[in-house]
Amino acid sequence: MPVSPAADPSTPRVATPRRYLMCEPVHYTVAYEINPWMDSTRHTDTELARSQWRTLRDVYLDLGHTVETIDPIPGLPDMVYAANGALIVDGIVYSARFRHPERAPEGPAYEKWFADRGFVTHTAAEVNEGEGDILPVGDLILAGTGFRTDRSAHAELARVTGHEVVSLELVDARYYHLDTALAVLQSDAADPQVAYFPPAFSPASQERLRELFPDALHATDRDAAALGLNAVSDGRHVVVAPGAVDLAPALRERGYETIPVDTSELLKGGGGAKCCTLEIRDVP
Ligand code: ARG
Repeated sequence: MPVSPAADPSTPRVATPRRYLMCEPVHYTVAYEINPWMDSTRHTDTELARSQWRTLRDVYLDLGHTVETIDPIPGLPDMVYAANGALIVDGIVYSARFRHPERAPEGPAYEKWFADRGFVTHTAAEVNEGEGDILPVGDLILAGTGFRTDRSAHAELARVTGHEVVSLELVDARYYHLDTALAVLQSDAADPQVAYFPPAFSPASQERLRELFPDALHATDRDAAALGLNAVSDGRHVVVAPGAVDLAPALRERGYETIPVDTSELLKGGGGAKCCTLEIRDVP
């Protein structure tokens, strides 16, 4: 069981090159309401969403990461939230199977993208929303349930990947996906590091997180409400919402470099930087 060693602010943080899949929000709007952030009567500015998305992509490119893109499909306004499209670990693709019919076609679309590129894909039998609810850290996979992903998917995921899957129960509808309540800062098995917002989890899951990550950063209400935990880390640089006013200095204290990226227009759909970013983890 990985246990984080005590925090050492002098620990040099090491970035590792990442490969991301993203989907430009060409058809972005809030057309339906499937989470408390979405208000379909509110105006959305697709051009602003696109420019915020391009800024995010350019940050990744400037950091030396690889960004691939999937063609956006008309009528799928949430397709920009690429993290939900699948989970890829050790080069194995576990497809998404969405809870809401509005997003259902995204699962096969993302799976096809991977199949077309020669990945081994597993079509999920169980409801799961990809990396939105499934976050590998070290040798473990943390998996959320409560709002979107079914617990039965956690067992399926363990069978498909061979990794131990830790089920975490989400209890606050604002933090309906695991990646809105917990950020993986360092996925290195030798020193896994996370930040999370404890009240988003059931008491039993809070206890489990404390056991696994005694040294984790705890986000504040303000951080969580800005979707500050929807952050993307390469092990050293953390792309984080500018509204994460407590989390950003806490990250810097622990030796991370924070990069504020404004994704406010995409927040209207209930997502931030991490939601827009699906990590492709190749064979180790
Ligand atoms: N409107 C989308 C939904 O409710 C937002 C998804 C955000 N993605 C994420 N990885 N949390 O499904």
